[in-house]
Amino acid sequence: MSEDLGHVSVLADEALQFLALRPGDHVCDLTLGAGGHSLRILDAIGPDGRLIAFDRDPVALEIATKRLAEYSDQVTLVTANFADAQKCLDEHNWSALDGALLDIGVSSMQIDDAARGFSFSNPGPLDMRMSPTIRVSAETFLANSSAEELERVFREYGEEPRARVIASKIVEVRRRIRLTTTKELAELVRSVAGSGGKSIHPATRVFQALRIAINGELDALSRILPILLEKLRPNRRLVVICFHSLEDRIVKRAMRQAASDGLGTVLTKKPVMPGREELTRNPRSRSARLRAFEKGEAIA
Ligand SMILES: C[S@@+](CC[C@H](N)C(=O)[O-])C[C@H]1O[C@@H](n2cnc3c(N)ncnc32)[C@H](O)[C@@H]1O
Repeated sequence: MSEDLGHVSVLADEALQFLALRPGDHVCDLTLGAGGHSLRILDAIGPDGRLIAFDRDPVALEIATKRLAEYSDQVTLVTANFADAQKCLDEHNWSALDGALLDIGVSSMQIDDAARGFSFSNPGPLDMRMSPTIRVSAETFLANSSAEELERVFREYGEEPRARVIASKIVEVRRRIRLTTTKELAELVRSVAGSGGKSIHPATRVFQALRIAINGELDALSRILPILLEKLRPNRRLVVICFHSLEDRIVKRAMRQAASDGLGTVLTKKPVMPGREELTRNPRSRSARLRAFEKGEAIA
């Protein structure tokens, strides 16, 4: 498993159970990360199986490539936004899938690397880009967006109740100085939003909102779900793990809609959450939610 790399795969046993893979299957891991879930998939599909895996972060690809080296003849690794998976699957002649896994969000490797700017606990530059192909960093976004846009992002993606006050403060402060570090932003938020209660840092929601906006995360998720449902073979499964209620809502709705369109069955009436043992071993798993869908027989 991936403990030694700093990213512990979340809900891995549950994901593998729901995927119900068989030897020889052809499977897609849309969020490779450190490759922990991919290794479990490779174990399940055996030497005749094939895996194609995506990550938009070249650093993740580099780590996972080393980790999956012994499977190199079975594995295709692609540096790309999974929203573009259709094109990439076509380019690599993958016409159908026996299983697909999405484990949405940031990896521990990304959060823990201060230079990536994802964390308010680690002082670093306000970057937050998962991929160098993304043009606008968090710093540029904070410097150029209107107060209304900042407020919308904090409210919509962070569900931040003090969105307007925080947005006004940013606009006021940036007349004097450019916000360039995670520490400056975290302190600004604390100065207007208070201590934020016992359990979460006051900047948690603002950082999450910025990350989602900078990386277009909800848009990518909405685009990929219909592609995966289309690519899955009949009676095969899609598993999605989310860490954010907005993402989970998108997945829940897409799966329910697909079921009511007669495309298959939602296997998780309620989302599956980590058990006590996993929560103790990996506290970062606490907000994870897993949903699974089985595609039905093709309609003639
Ligand atoms: C939670 S981690 C995945 C961890 C992985 N399942 C494991 O076991 O190590 C999420 C990964 O998805 C990647 N990612 C997020 N959004 C993406 C997107 N739209 N396209 C491609 N990769 C994305 C991130 O760069 C990150 O490495």
